[in-house]
Amino acid sequence: RPGDACTIVIFGASGDLTKRKLLPALYNLKALKLLPDNFAVIGVAVTDGNDELYRQKITSDIKEFATRPVDDTCWNDFAARSYYVQGDFNSQGTFEHLSAKIADAQKTWNLPGNVLFYLAVSPTFFGKVVEQLHGVGLTTEAPNAWRRVIIEKPFGHDLASARALNEDLSKHINESQIYRIDHYLGKETVQNIMVFRFGNSVFEPIWNRRYIEYVQITVAEQLGVELRGGYYDHSGVVRDMVQNHILSVLSLIAMEPPSSISGDSVRNEKVKVLEAIRPMEPEEVLANTVRGQYGAGIIDGKNVPAYRTEPDVDPNSNTETFVAMKLEVDNWRWAEVPFYIRSGKRLAAHTTQIVIGFRRAPLMLFGQEVQNNITPNRLVIHVQPDEGITLDIHAKRPGPNINITNVPLDFTYADFGEHTAATGYETLLYDCMVGDPTLFHRYDSVDASWRIVNPILDVWHALPARDFPNYEAGSWGPEAADHLIQKTGHAWHHYQIQHKL
Ligand code: BG6
Repeated sequence: RPGDACTIVIFGASGDLTKRKLLPALYNLKALKLLPDNFAVIGVAVTDGNDELYRQKITSDIKEFATRPVDDTCWNDFAARSYYVQGDFNSQGTFEHLSAKIADAQKTWNLPGNVLFYLAVSPTFFGKVVEQLHGVGLTTEAPNAWRRVIIEKPFGHDLASARALNEDLSKHINESQIYRIDHYLGKETVQNIMVFRFGNSVFEPIWNRRYIEYVQITVAEQLGVELRGGYYDHSGVVRDMVQNHILSVLSLIAMEPPSSISGDSVRNEKVKVLEAIRPMEPEEVLANTVRGQYGAGIIDGKNVPAYRTEPDVDPNSNTETFVAMKLEVDNWRWAEVPFYIRSGKRLAAHTTQIVIGFRRAPLMLFGQEVQNNITPNRLVIHVQPDEGITLDIHAKRPGPNINITNVPLDFTYADFGEHTAATGYETLLYDCMVGDPTLFHRYDSVDASWRIVNPILDVWHALPARDFPNYEAGSWGPEAADHLIQKTGHAWHHYQIQHKL
């Protein structure tokens, strides 16, 4: 069914996120008939403009950023339902103007009172915008008039500011109205983790410390900080990626089976597992984490500059662009199973992979030597690119001797033969329009994630790195990351999916 008829208000309408992701995602939803037939979109930004100019702008943006061919009839209807409000988020006048515009659009299109507010703005405005919306009565819900607010990460800069932000928001709206978006949870393969674990009967019985020796999550980017140095230099990879995307993916891998797949069941299990991750003591931070910052290097044959020379980055910056860490989940399912995480910018490959490493077979039936030469079974979930799943098994090579080798059983999304044109935002926008918060962060999981990473950031802050930059762009990060994992007898894996002909 399509989403509920509603008005969608986008704050930050002239920004990058809106033109690159939100508009194409809304257009895709419309093309798939998942956007309600009846809707209106109102862009709000400080840039001068009016409805007509805004329609021209989004029409040229969609031509540039659409992820599927744009059908004129479909787009013209979208454009005709789009409006613009110019104004400063600090001024009450902007919100009075917005309120009148929403009322007009509702009248013109005979829309119910539902309104989705998307805050595609700097987090410094989250509290202010919500306060102003509340001030003009736009956050009050009624039957047929839900009011939902989507906010983008970062949800705070540390545990204390995350709590303060939450307090600010909860003065004006309820937790059930807040949709904290994480675009990783909109990715097909991330959503498939639950189907894989709980839709199949063969994996759940072995999904525990008896059979699994370790779990690895790698989120590697080849991109540098691009033009976001100003933001990134105050953030670093732990705040930018680990606190939100990576811990969220980890919780889907490690959580207990939920009793249903909707709403709070899944979110309850995710929080429980995050709460079971032991925050590190200072000496554990030193032993179990490695941070890095990229120097100049070569990516795809091109010279790329060092982090410290990127625009808007402090030339003496101590911000980490790479992290590797070992986490432990203190519960019956996972006790003593290391969860290794690594993420960074300007690495050797663009890849997000989850590797589940199984224990060796208990009996060396085919001879110790033969079995030592092969890697124990691994399951690899390829989140991106080349979405798919590989199960690495052992097989006998043809011939008179027992000669065992690793062979991959591969499933790739490409095998579905469908080109998914998704930006990753479609599912999330749609879920918000039907009121399904499963894939959004509830505040307690935000808090639990900060409790895990905050002690690490505190120790790093107290002991600034002296060896930055410590990895070359185009490498797999500092060598210390390899030593970290070798200490427990493991190694990082990077799997390439084998394409069948
Ligand atoms: C964002 C981070 O949340 O995720 C960026 O702020 C990062 O720094 C991006 O590049 C990665 O997303 P994706 O979907 O390209 O893996």
